[in-house]
Amino acid sequence: PSSRASFNDPFLLVSHEMSNLAKSIASMIGSGHPTLNRVSSYYFEAEGKNVRPLIVLLLSKALLKIPVEQRNRTAIDDLDVVDQQPFKGTPTSHTVVAGKSVDDSISPLAILHGINPKVILDPLSKPMDALPEFDASNGILPKQRRLAEIVEMIHTASLLHDDVIDMSDARRGRPSGNVAFTNKMAVLAGDFLLGRASVAIARLRNPEVIELLSTTIANLVEGEFMQLKNTVLNQSSDINNGGELKPVPTPTGKVPTKQHEYSVQTPADVDHETNVNAAFEYYLHKTYLKTASLMSKLARAAAVLSGAQDDVVQNCYDFGRNLGLCFQIVDDMLDYTSSDNAIGKPSQADLKLGLATAPILFAWKERPELGELISRKFKEPGDVELARLAVDQCNGVEQTRKMAQEYCMKALGNLRVLPESDARSALELLTNSILTRTK
Ligand code: FPP
Ligand code: MG
Ligand code: MG
Repeated sequence: PSSRASFNDPFLLVSHEMSNLAKSIASMIGSGHPTLNRVSSYYFEAEGKNVRPLIVLLLSKALLKIPVEQRNRTAIDDLDVVDQQPFKGTPTSHTVVAGKSVDDSISPLAILHGINPKVILDPLSKPMDALPEFDASNGILPKQRRLAEIVEMIHTASLLHDDVIDMSDARRGRPSGNVAFTNKMAVLAGDFLLGRASVAIARLRNPEVIELLSTTIANLVEGEFMQLKNTVLNQSSDINNGGELKPVPTPTGKVPTKQHEYSVQTPADVDHETNVNAAFEYYLHKTYLKTASLMSKLARAAAVLSGAQDDVVQNCYDFGRNLGLCFQIVDDMLDYTSSDNAIGKPSQADLKLGLATAPILFAWKERPELGELISRKFKEPGDVELARLAVDQCNGVEQTRKMAQEYCMKALGNLRVLPESDARSALELLTNSILTRTK
């Protein structure tokens, strides 16, 4: 974290919380299985951007400036309880298994498999108040700090799954989880992270926040599904299949049969402009679900936990939504403009995956003949190169940047509704840096 601290770094205001983030997450994802531990902690070892926890923490700090009398009574009571009674108990020395406590003896079978039964079940099974301690100097509530950890866990789970789906071989400058550990382990580790995140979500004891975060997990899958239906058809996304995109027979010889066909085929009776508009609508909805949903709902959850009133909660939601859309549109732009080295993951990947994101949609708007390439997912030889050339000639990247900028401006507008503070300025900086980021 210290390497990131520079003048005007939005990170600085919450550097204390940010430096505890990884440690706290590590304490929530321990299992009795050494290999599972390695896979589920793998993406946390390389420094990510931590954008989502940063938003939670800075927004929580900014919300603190709202006068107490302008907050909801119930939430304030809840805050009082947490603030006045920071967790003082010690975690139990043993874990209770289905009503029975596990004693100190470890079975030979467990030793053989390198499994420690004492931590198998639930390292979180401590009293519910075992939230991060309240730091009066910074004012961020324990539940908000836990929220920051939870959203990074959900995000990381989705990355493990995403790299399997995208058959990606690198992330954060290292081999991706699927390459380092196989698809199966990467998927299971993602599921495990989601399970542990769910326990932590339940322990926030806030039904609205539980609902928000559960919905966002479903949204991530919906967004990914919209993308999948639009692209990888009759394909197995198994990188262990040598990148061959065809159905893999099961051991009994059965081949997956009828797959649903879907494409953005251009019906003859619909005019080009209508088609392009529909494609942009589809793209933006998918983008909301796969990226902006988490950002909007984490912002909303931070506001709910702060006891803010409905209009503030809604404004925070809008901020997260606009920021999230900007974030993903920039991501789609960087796929065209960056190198693998610069972003620590494969670049120029979307077209090869058959994905039509904003840059190519802008080019299509000007060149109707690109519709054919889009609907056949750029799979004929030369398609990818043709598409890239068209994006260049039609300023697809520049138009995409403008689109991202519009969402950035809207997000900045949402921030201006919050009381002025250092944290608000830091959020403004963060918002601007998402637009100008290069990785
Ligand atoms: C990265 O997008 C991926 C996402 C933003 C979401 C992925 C969601 C899933 C795989 C659904 C499963 C969800 C959970 C919670 C387990 P990208 O592929 O465009 O970006 P990249 O270049 O970083 O890979
Ligand atoms: Mg993806
Ligand atoms: Mg991906």
